[in-house]
Amino acid sequence: MEDFSCLRLLLGLLILELLSLSNGTNSSAKLECPIEIEPDTMVLKYQSRGWSAVCKPQTSESNVKEIFWKTREDRRISNRTWNPDIHENWDPSPVCHGEFLGIGRCNKTLHYILYKPQETVSIDTVSNSESTVEGGEMKLQCSIINVAPAEHLRVRWMWQRGNKTIEPGLVGVNNESGCSFPPRRSPVNVVCTKIITLNRTHDGIQVRCEAELNLGPKGPQPPPSMTSNSFNLSIQYEPRINTTKLPELVPVIRGYTEELFCEADGNPPPRIQWHYSSGTASLGSNGTLVVKEEGIYNCTAENDLNTDKRVVRVILKEDYLPLIAGFVALTVVIISIIFVFIYSIYYKNTKMRRYSLKNPKLSSHNSNVAHNGWDIQLPVTKLS
Ligand SMILES: *[C@@H]1O[C@H](CO)[C@@H](O)[C@H](O)[C@H]1NC(C)=O
Ligand SMILES: *[C@@H]1O[C@H](CO)[C@@H](O)[C@H](O)[C@H]1NC(C)=O
Ligand SMILES: *[C@@H]1O[C@H](CO)[C@@H](O)[C@H](O)[C@H]1NC(C)=O
Ligand SMILES: *[C@@H]1O[C@H](CO)[C@@H](O)[C@H](O)[C@H]1NC(C)=O
Ligand SMILES: *[C@@H]1O[C@H](CO)[C@@H](O)[C@H](O)[C@H]1NC(C)=O
Ligand SMILES: *[C@@H]1O[C@H](CO)[C@@H](O)[C@H](O)[C@H]1NC(C)=O
Ligand SMILES: *[C@@H]1O[C@H](CO)[C@@H](O)[C@H](O)[C@H]1NC(C)=O
Ligand SMILES: *[C@@H]1O[C@H](CO)[C@@H](O)[C@H](O)[C@H]1NC(C)=O
Ligand SMILES: *[C@@H]1O[C@H](CO)[C@@H](O)[C@H](O)[C@H]1NC(C)=O
Ligand SMILES: *[C@@H]1O[C@H](CO)[C@@H](O)[C@H](O)[C@H]1NC(C)=O
Repeated sequence: MEDFSCLRLLLGLLILELLSLSNGTNSSAKLECPIEIEPDTMVLKYQSRGWSAVCKPQTSESNVKEIFWKTREDRRISNRTWNPDIHENWDPSPVCHGEFLGIGRCNKTLHYILYKPQETVSIDTVSNSESTVEGGEMKLQCSIINVAPAEHLRVRWMWQRGNKTIEPGLVGVNNESGCSFPPRRSPVNVVCTKIITLNRTHDGIQVRCEAELNLGPKGPQPPPSMTSNSFNLSIQYEPRINTTKLPELVPVIRGYTEELFCEADGNPPPRIQWHYSSGTASLGSNGTLVVKEEGIYNCTAENDLNTDKRVVRVILKEDYLPLIAGFVALTVVIISIIFVFIYSIYYKNTKMRRYSLKNPKLSSHNSNVAHNGWDIQLPVTKLS
């Protein structure tokens, strides 16, 4: 027991030691430059005026040797106050330098972004991919004009049918999202492409793209966003007859007619035609065929791309309805006869029982008999 407590004490000491050690490293790494930049982050819109950043010592002025600003070109640009150039310099990388007694030289960087929201956003198809036939590929292109810095841009492709919109999340402009732009911080044009395999389900869909310049919490809220014009997808596709509406085998009851629905999906809309040898079928509206005779009826749906065909076999079926009706009638008659028969037997029985009830001395014996007899099921009280 004592050994354990001793061990625990040792462990505790060890942990304390470790903690103080980590604290030590923290404090030694915390020898940060004692200068303060006000504000520490600047997100400025292109050609907006009246902004400046001030660099000053964190505590006292006493140990300051000098404080000044430098830009990317390592040029000394000003002493304590820096007025950013919001017209030309898109990437100044402003750094405030200080020299202190006892500390020496050190510096701090100002987070600085000069931005210009996208001028226009447009969507189009890339000219050499004109195919609009199902199965082909189409290259859509979203162009975002004159935006800076492009690396803060997010894009989104939107698919809309009617009033229903599918909007996958915003993605950064990079190779994975199919976007590219010149690697500069000054205004550039960003081009994003998307390749789609055309499908009949795409027909009539409107595609748009949205660009949003996301500059973080210090940037404008909400972030500047712009949506393109919509691009209408018009897909040509082969006709396809709806087979759920037109089965291969259609039974027709003799003496009746049946409608065959030949409906086909296709773009351009297909022409529907019926081919048959029977003389008694007649064409209804909307590609329907009214049949009453056995035979092969072929429906074709044809457009510029292809033809779809459906062969329908119509078979005649006897009308069993009169037969069934006769059978039902016969059954009813038989049941009636049985019922009458049973009733007559029962009627005789109750007559006998009424007669026996007149003798009260026999009642106890009679009740025993009645429990075993079939007349227990009958509503005795109602009848007697
Ligand atoms: C140690 O440094 C970390 C990160 O640099 C900081 O979050 C933490 O507060 C520091 N701890 C102490 C005791 O200074
Ligand atoms: C910056 O400070 C130095 C000395 O600290 C001074 O000589 C110089 O004139 C100052 N420059 C400006 C632009 O204020
Ligand atoms: C800022 O100081 C760090 C050391 O703290 C140094 O490595 C870096 O080069 C300095 N930056 C500039 C722009 O002088
Ligand atoms: C069209 O899309 C459906 C479902 O999304 C798929 O089953 C079908 O194979 C596609 N057709 C073509 C030609 O890509
Ligand atoms: C969108 O269309 C559906 C039917 O097509 C309708 O019920 C719904 O009210 C519409 N919504 C709006 C916002 O128009
Ligand atoms: C992006 O893709 C292009 C061509 O598709 C390629 O030349 C470039 O190296 C890629 N960039 C990166 C960062 O992967
Ligand atoms: C796209 O389709 C919509 C609705 O169907 C229509 O209002 C719009 O004019 C079409 N745009 C083009 C460029 O065809
Ligand atoms: C075929 O017809 C059925 C029944 O009317 C319908 O539910 C289905 O959507 C149709 N299929 C096509 C591809 O139009
Ligand atoms: C219907 O199609 C079948 C099979 O393709 C063919 O044998 C038959 O001759 C066609 N009938 C008519 C009337 O076109
Ligand atoms: C065809 O059918 C559609 C719906 O199934 C109906 O709205 C339309 O009026 C029909 N056209 C004719 C010519 O019967």
